[in-house]
Amino acid sequence: MSHKPSIAIIGGTGALGTGLARRWALAGYPITIGSRSAESATVSAQGLSALLSEKGVSGRVAGAENVEAARAADIVVLTVPFSQHAGMLGHIRESVQGRLVLDTTAPLVPPRVGTVQLPQAGSAAVSTQEALGDNVSVVSAFQTVAADKLQALHPMEGDVIVCGNKREDCARVIELVEATGMRGVYGGPLANSAASEALTSVLITINRQFKCQAGIKLVGLT
Ligand SMILES: NC(=O)c1ccc[n+]([C@@H]2O[C@H](COP(=O)([O-])OP(=O)(O)OC[C@H]3O[C@@H](n4cnc5c(N)ncnc54)[C@H](OP(=O)(O)O)[C@@H]3O)[C@@H](O)[C@H]2O)c1
Repeated sequence: MSHKPSIAIIGGTGALGTGLARRWALAGYPITIGSRSAESATVSAQGLSALLSEKGVSGRVAGAENVEAARAADIVVLTVPFSQHAGMLGHIRESVQGRLVLDTTAPLVPPRVGTVQLPQAGSAAVSTQEALGDNVSVVSAFQTVAADKLQALHPMEGDVIVCGNKREDCARVIELVEATGMRGVYGGPLANSAASEALTSVLITINRQFKCQAGIKLVGLT
């Protein structure tokens, strides 16, 4: 039996965190939902456990305050709004040392969320790496995926670009992408996350025009 890494989702009570938690728990990954409130995390974890029971899947699901959640996991996934990003990095910094941190953050700055506004570091993911230090391997992915679609549990389509400075950690995240039903494609070093993060605002603009939830699909891959 293959060993699946345990995953903590920081801000896991939210839209994207809930969608990812559902997909990964159903795929057999042990999940800890993180929240500012241990009580909210527990309520979310109970909901996820009920979903697993309904689907006849056995799995390990827990809820904890964000720092406690991060401490317990092999992989820590960051799913908080960009406005809370810097503060949350300071909060979890010590608890994620030596770990892989998957950053899903799109640096949206209301009210102009349909306009690309990348942070001074070049991207949210690069600022995550700077804040957490060299003992953390930051990988960026999922900025172009709609949380609602993940939550709905219908078959997923499309691609997810995965950027990071350590190829082996990008490969671990590509496995996580595939566990959600999409294809993960290595997109280069962490600095290239700027392109994925910028695409979020482009997709928001497209979604407003077509009243849809568009994603991305790469063509020509063999
Ligand atoms: N939504 C999407 O479709 C989508 C798609 C791709 C990428 N993303 C990225 O995923 C991240 C999360 O997006 P989301 O839509 O899931 O966000 P969200 O639902 O608005 O918030 C996620 C969680 O963040 C926590 N949070 C809220 N305010 C906070 C604060 N002041 N301090 C600390 N934590 C706080 C909350 O958890 P607690 O109240 O339980 O602490 C909340 O459940 C963003 O960076 C976004 O760019 C989202």
